[in-house]
Amino acid sequence: MRRKGIILAGGTGTRLWPITMGVSKQLLPLYNKPMIYYPLSVLMLGGIREIAIITTPEDQAQFQRLMGDGSQWGLLFTYIVQPSPDGLAQAYLLAADFLDGVPSAMVLGDNIFFGQGLSKILAAADMRQTGGTVFGYHVADPERYGVVALDAKGRVTGIVEKPSNPSSHFAVTGLYYLDGRAPELAAKVKPSVRGELEIVDLLEMYLKEGLLHVETMGRGFAWLDTGTHGSLLDAGNFVRTLSDRQGLQVGSPDEIAYRSGFITAEQLAARAKVFCKNDYGLYLASILSE
Ligand code: DAU
Repeated sequence: MRRKGIILAGGTGTRLWPITMGVSKQLLPLYNKPMIYYPLSVLMLGGIREIAIITTPEDQAQFQRLMGDGSQWGLLFTYIVQPSPDGLAQAYLLAADFLDGVPSAMVLGDNIFFGQGLSKILAAADMRQTGGTVFGYHVADPERYGVVALDAKGRVTGIVEKPSNPSSHFAVTGLYYLDGRAPELAAKVKPSVRGELEIVDLLEMYLKEGLLHVETMGRGFAWLDTGTHGSLLDAGNFVRTLSDRQGLQVGSPDEIAYRSGFITAEQLAARAKVFCKNDYGLYLASILSE
């Protein structure tokens, strides 16, 4: 069964309010493209083409204007509203009809991943049709995230949301590969003390069945935060430094669509034409003349 994707872009951290003025931050530019393009690119690198985009009711029209139906990238988008941000696990309830029993990959709309070999670890997670896979990343401040405890063989032994005494430095990133039972299991999650359906409670159900796997993203990977003014700027500077130095785009859905065979050269040429007055369009045109 072909895995489907979910991008959860339902809210904006209150710490960013002065610059977003209540508009979803996932629509803001991160250097030279909207933030949501980066997590979208991750799903595309994972070979996923049917994607539900979950937004607040107010933001939905803007996401639709930006992203359309996905056909420009050989994708198929479904838009789903999350009336209020009641937790990450709620996404699986909202997307239950869309998923229709099929395995899924969910990415948070503000998570930026970059690293050689990303497609490979996504392929490894995709191979597992039963159970779940999370992606662990070594961070200096694990207490700010979901954290996995690992045994000597690298197997998950525990998972805790924002622990005050973290048992490891491995944060759980905002990318979750779950099997087709995710909506059914999410329906059993009870609201936490903060009133949210916590993703870690859902992941714990997989862990109890011995079916929660972890893929670690090593030193060569970047998993960037965009939750504060400073980290948002840092993430933009990271993308700029890398893409300007290499002359290669980071997180371009157009490039990935073409290289993955989701769109034809003619379709890419049409996209290059849309952006012909800027560097992005010139870049797309240059791919065609490689
Ligand atoms: O970024 C990875 C972390 O994301 C994980 O390590 C944690 O385990 C996970 O709980 C989550 O933690 P955060 O504290 O970053 O979650 P936050 O509530 O800030 O939500 C993350 C993004 O998801 C944010 O852009 C808003 C969006 N969101 C959040 C909730 C709770 C929604 O779209 N809907 C929601 O209901």
